[in-house]
Amino acid sequence: MTATNEIKKFILKKRVRRGFSALTAISLFSGAGISDLGYELAGFQIVVQSEKDFDRANICEQNFPNSTCIKGDIEKTWKKIIRQYRKSEKQQRLSLLTVTPPCQGMSSSNPGRGKITDPEHGVRDERNLLLLSAIPIINQLKPRVVVAENVPALLNRVIREKNTGKIKTVVQAFADELIEYELFVGVVQMADYGIPQLRRRAILVAVHKDEKWLENLKKGKLLPWVRPTHSETAIDNRKKWVSVRSWLNQMRYSALDAKTKPSNPKDALHYVPSYDGDRYLMVLSIPPYSGKNAYQNSICPECNKNSIPLEVAYCPHCGNLLRNRPYVLRKNGRARLIKGFHSSYRRMPPDRPASTVTTNSSHIGGDYKIHPWENRVMSARECADLQTVPRTFKWNWAFENDHRYYIRNVIGEALPTYFAYLHGKILMQLLQGKFPEDSLSRFGVDGQDRKISKIHEQE
Ligand SMILES: C[S@@+](CC[C@H](N)C(=O)[O-])C[C@H]1O[C@@H](n2cnc3c(N)ncnc32)[C@H](O)[C@@H]1O
Repeated sequence: MTATNEIKKFILKKRVRRGFSALTAISLFSGAGISDLGYELAGFQIVVQSEKDFDRANICEQNFPNSTCIKGDIEKTWKKIIRQYRKSEKQQRLSLLTVTPPCQGMSSSNPGRGKITDPEHGVRDERNLLLLSAIPIINQLKPRVVVAENVPALLNRVIREKNTGKIKTVVQAFADELIEYELFVGVVQMADYGIPQLRRRAILVAVHKDEKWLENLKKGKLLPWVRPTHSETAIDNRKKWVSVRSWLNQMRYSALDAKTKPSNPKDALHYVPSYDGDRYLMVLSIPPYSGKNAYQNSICPECNKNSIPLEVAYCPHCGNLLRNRPYVLRKNGRARLIKGFHSSYRRMPPDRPASTVTTNSSHIGGDYKIHPWENRVMSARECADLQTVPRTFKWNWAFENDHRYYIRNVIGEALPTYFAYLHGKILMQLLQGKFPEDSLSRFGVDGQDRKISKIHEQE
């Protein structure tokens, strides 16, 4: 089966209620539970979830009726999380703890994140330290495996440690506290697993030292996550990345248009922001399939003259405003082009995977947000599918409470369900005493950027 088919099947499959499993899991920073669903489909039983934001927690609760979601700030709720696990599972050893804190403190899209190597800034933004809030839970429940995920910038984020005053990376601070564990750290690219989206993520997997398979991992220079199957070009037995063009064609979404048809009554998630006027003209003027941006629109909408130079807001031939370029009006009534990046107001290039789905997926000024050929951004449905969220996922709470904007937010911040599912399957095998050597990532060989390193090697 091709990757496109396999992922399509994963998304569209009608699933019955998930049953009991002896391998239990707790998820911290659960969001709506999009990645939790992948680990659950792989066979883990999610027993406790935790989430600060009540709206996200409510979506989570709808989707995980058999788990308890502890609502509130983890700094205050961590003891409750431990108690709840002990209450429901009694003596059962926790198999998996997932930790997916927010990435805004690290993300390059956050202008206030400060210098990633500045320890003072690292401490000032509390979100940078949230990974460390898992430590007391780990030390008390001693899960067999801990999985953490974030943007790759996490790996370089430097902080000054509260107790010792020492300057170190957040990851090193995390590793130093996990004395009973070995920590494996790397960067994974979702497109390397056949997912039609470019999305790089830092992955941290801590394995408890009493796990027998840990020795095999180290001896074989292997990493506890799944080996990539795809790459930018088809090399080393890997298939070529799935392009957004082939994905959209295969999924056969009904056509939408920001001006004439912004939604599809048959699918509540297949909607886009509606606009007309200059904003629409700007999108309409970017040639379909070109991967170009609106700054490159080179035909004047007033006089139709071609080859208008870049970086001007007014047509050099007729003197009229170039309404099909991103502009703002100054106080004096004259326009200037909006300062933008190469990637903003741009169509997705059709022959590579889709750009990263973000929380602002409805904003045409964001990076590569415009549909490759239709005149609109990607719909919430298309974003959910690019994030490989199964169609059985329940969004009712967001609709019933008129919180539609939440849908794009929670979709954009998630680890794709399909990746979590693949990862969960590998972890299940390891925890059940099987050693799927050929399916594990290889240290220093696999990975998008060869930056993979095992934290304990730095000692
Ligand atoms: C990156 S998102 C998690 C995404 C999730 N894994 C998924 O796949 O849907 C991080 C989540 O952490 C939550 N969060 C942020 N600060 C928190 C805190 N102090 N305590 C608990 N949850 C928090 C946010 O509300 C957000 O939902």
